[in-house]
Amino acid sequence: MTISISLSVNGKHVEASIDPRMLLVQFIREHLRLTGTHVGCDTAQCGACTVHMNGNAVKSCSMLAAQAQGAQITTIEGLSQGGELHPMQAAFRECHGLQCGYCTPGMVMSAVHLLAENPRATEEEIRESLDGNICRCTGYQNIVKSIQLVQAGK
Ligand code: FES
Ligand code: FES
Repeated sequence: MTISISLSVNGKHVEASIDPRMLLVQFIREHLRLTGTHVGCDTAQCGACTVHMNGNAVKSCSMLAAQAQGAQITTIEGLSQGGELHPMQAAFRECHGLQCGYCTPGMVMSAVHLLAENPRATEEEIRESLDGNICRCTGYQNIVKSIQLVQAGK
């Protein structure tokens, strides 16, 4: 059995017939081939699969693709505009906010959402907000610095 879904992904209208059990992260990676969204755990703990859905940061391994019916999804591929890195991506590069890079797409998506909600987040609030994103390389110090660089507007 398949079901039909239609949604917007990175500003493009997408329609597909899918297995109703398909997870959103599988739809993004395997159906749409947007492999910047990573899978680090499959149990909604690591945050590597974080995308934006209707302006909220969500873990795309923790929901079905069918739940995104009619939604506006942004993945890491949709952040940059006109070939320019998003300021958060540029800050991660500038501050060495990544090591192996596996957690990075999810970290960036969570960080962008955090500053959209709370542009003046304190260091403590930044650290708290990243609670749902795990960096196995333990690069948290520079990840926080990257977010602060965006806050500083540099
Ligand atoms: Fe989704 Fe780890 S893959 S939280
Ligand atoms: Fe390696 Fe975060 S940079 S997991």
